[in-house]
Amino acid sequence: MNAAVRAVTRAGIEQGWEVYGVRSGYSGLIGGSFRRLLVRDVGGLMQQAGTFLGSARCPEFRMDEGKDTALHVLNREGIEGLVVIGGNGSQTGAHALAERGFPVVGVASTIDNDLYGSEITIGVDTALNIALEAIDRLKATASSHGRAFLVEVMGRHCGYLALMAAIAGGAEAVVIPEREVDPTELAEQLRACYQRGKSHAVVVVAEGARHNAGTLVRHFEENRARLGFELRATILGHVQRGGTPGAFDRLLATRLGAAAVASLAHGRHGVLMGLVRGEVGATPLAEVVTHQKTIDLELFELARVMAQ
Ligand code: F6P
Repeated sequence: MNAAVRAVTRAGIEQGWEVYGVRSGYSGLIGGSFRRLLVRDVGGLMQQAGTFLGSARCPEFRMDEGKDTALHVLNREGIEGLVVIGGNGSQTGAHALAERGFPVVGVASTIDNDLYGSEITIGVDTALNIALEAIDRLKATASSHGRAFLVEVMGRHCGYLALMAAIAGGAEAVVIPEREVDPTELAEQLRACYQRGKSHAVVVVAEGARHNAGTLVRHFEENRARLGFELRATILGHVQRGGTPGAFDRLLATRLGAAAVASLAHGRHGVLMGLVRGEVGATPLAEVVTHQKTIDLELFELARVMAQ
């Protein structure tokens, strides 16, 4: 996100605009917490995770009153255009402001990769690499000690991170909300791994799956004697966020941030800037908030084949 803020700032200044950063997302917008950003204020940011502007969930902004206040503050401060960097919640808010006639452009950013209008969003690649590092380490122990490990990754209701981490990490099984696997089926899959001569098993589970780490571990504990092996769980949680952004995310954030400014400059707003068929492209926010992104379930089959 920092790389995107940097890009918006520098591209905006290049347009001859005054650029202001909004602290703590929509709560800063409602509270009028703005900070003028100059070219040097965003120096050295690209290497840093997160956002130096701060971010916050803002229940107030979900209400009409909150949105109206934000609009009032924007007009009062003489702000003429807004770039909203974030995922589904942020872009739903962006759409609400656009519907009220304010010039808004969204930038697709969430580690969950569940935002319609961008094939991949800012943060996904970095979060995926963190998950992979954890899986690789667990795999080394699993293999040396002949154990079965389960890794739960974030993603909210979406299984994208888990599925990709499973494929890239060479996991033996994957559990995602889009393709639920129940505990008995999973136990069978793992037993089959041992029968095929594997000395270990790694399972990647999405936090949003009905049978997440908690329920799966409980099932394996309760049936330990019958199954003949135990399943130990590692929940990555917020560790998955906050990693030093990799080259892919820095470039994507820079391109999308600059494109958002160009879009505003051309008077094209009410859109989300994302990666569309490999290129930077705009999708109407109205479309973004009414469509659900799906994951390619052929990749689930690929994960199965590769787990042999
Ligand atoms: O949307 C990003 C995300 O990290 C999800 O993967 C996760 O479920 C959620 O945010 C965690 O949110 P919070 O930090 O507010 O608990």
